[in-house]
Amino acid sequence: MNKPVKCLISAGPTREWIDDVRFISNPSSGKMGFELASVAKKMGFEVTLVSGPVSIPRPDGVIYKSVETAIEMREVLVKLFPQSSLAIMTAAVSDHRPEFLGKKKVKKDEFPSSLKFIRNPDILQELGDMKSSNQKLIGFAAESFDHLANGQKKLEAKNLDWIVVNDISNPKTGFESEMNEVTLLSRNNEHFSFPLSTKRKIAADILNQVWK
Ligand code: PMT
Repeated sequence: MNKPVKCLISAGPTREWIDDVRFISNPSSGKMGFELASVAKKMGFEVTLVSGPVSIPRPDGVIYKSVETAIEMREVLVKLFPQSSLAIMTAAVSDHRPEFLGKKKVKKDEFPSSLKFIRNPDILQELGDMKSSNQKLIGFAAESFDHLANGQKKLEAKNLDWIVVNDISNPKTGFESEMNEVTLLSRNNEHFSFPLSTKRKIAADILNQVWK
């Protein structure tokens, strides 16, 4: 029997801590990434799902890695990527983390009145730089304006095979929604629009197009 092809998927938000009880994050629920993981598993892939903190059930039969910060997510993804034939990065990774990191719960009067931020690693860029010719790397672009132009820039800059452009300015199609509507762009100038449907259907449409 042939060994299953390995598929690596990231999902959910990251948490960037300010002290032991406060953090910066975003509303990603993990739904888009979890549906991709579930459909990929059904298609026969060996799926590893690397996720930030979410409160939805884990898909059956996938290898699950739980992380919190962008730094932790990077460490796991960079380690697993070389063995993966397909990688799909849906995680809403925080681009910045606070420079300040307080101990325990910082007291009101000692809390900084302003926070300075430092850049987090761009994990997808790093994977794109590492990518070999037998691997397929798919990114997501969460955009609130000039969607396709911004998605196209990310596709090229990060050396991706495909990018899924997601309009997050529409509450029906972005963070936390049950449904989605996306445009899939390829490095070969292909262009597919998937109309409003469940995130599960969108996940199946994406996988059927990028893995033929
Ligand atoms: O989780 P849900 O509630 O279902 O919402 C789904 C979603 C809206 C989060 C998802 O569909 C989506 O659009 N994910 C991309 C979120 C994002 O961070 O997009 P971006 O345009 O900022 O980043 C572009 C790509 O680079 C993404 O693949 C991201 O995973 C990656 N990235 C970003 C920043 C960073 N420091 N490292 C990265 O790897």
